[in-house]
Amino acid sequence: MNTWMMNGVFALFFFLVATGLFFFVVTRGALLVRGLSSGSGSEKSHVYPIYSNMRLIKLVDFQPIISAILLFQYHGLVSKIVSGLERSDLKNKKVLITSCAFGNVIPRVVQAALNAGAERVLIVDIIHNELAHARSKLGNFSGKVDFIEDNATSMKQEDGVVDANVIFFLLHELPHHLKVQALNEAGRLLAPGGKLFLAEFHRPEPRVLRALSWTYFKVFEPLGLTLWNTHDPLICLENIGGWTCERTTFFFGNFQIITATKR
Ligand SMILES: C[S@@+](CC[C@H](N)C(=O)[O-])C[C@H]1O[C@@H](n2cnc3c(N)ncnc32)[C@H](O)[C@@H]1O
Repeated sequence: MNTWMMNGVFALFFFLVATGLFFFVVTRGALLVRGLSSGSGSEKSHVYPIYSNMRLIKLVDFQPIISAILLFQYHGLVSKIVSGLERSDLKNKKVLITSCAFGNVIPRVVQAALNAGAERVLIVDIIHNELAHARSKLGNFSGKVDFIEDNATSMKQEDGVVDANVIFFLLHELPHHLKVQALNEAGRLLAPGGKLFLAEFHRPEPRVLRALSWTYFKVFEPLGLTLWNTHDPLICLENIGGWTCERTTFFFGNFQIITATKR
């Protein structure tokens, strides 16, 4: 190997380690430090700084980075939700987005909801800065969207107020008992016949991918691993009852979209 190639390999290695370190510090690392301090008991204590600090939000929310984190499945996952919404009759109905997310999922979902006839879209997040950031992506639609600071696990909204609810990669970040509470709330807020579109990680089929994915969760997001077994969202919904569920997996089973209709 010549010097030029050696330098290239070294630079790539350094870049990957630095990126991994950065993400560790602004996600799990920060929660570990928070756990040692007095600030660990609030309803926001599970939220990573990457979602609460505006500078970090703006630094990270760059579509190619976000797509890469989801192994370039982001577009397909969002498209599945978008097509589900566009096939629904949402005329004069309300659509809920439970928690903000990086990338273009929010503008795409809002556009799809309005295309399907929705009169309003409610975007709920526990962090004010996330809502402010989401608002900055929705210039064209802001008159049709309400931004609401609330907790997905105990919402202020009344029963049955929406006809569709999109939850994009929230569950894997919630403490386990709150995962079930968030699903209960999703059901409470939906009108009968309404649909929940849930995007999440899923247990991959190939062993190599499963091992890599397991390592990722152990290092960065340990709360996500139970989605593979004890807190599989489809099984949780079936245990709660009153849902008809359909699951589509992506990328060798590494991701899933659950479309659940409230009976
Ligand atoms: C949906 S998840 C992560 C999505 C995914 N990793 C991404 O951005 O592509 C992150 C969002 O959930 C929000 N969040 C976390 N816990 C919440 C809760 N209990 N209620 C409402 N929003 C919550 C965070 O503030 C953040 O905006």
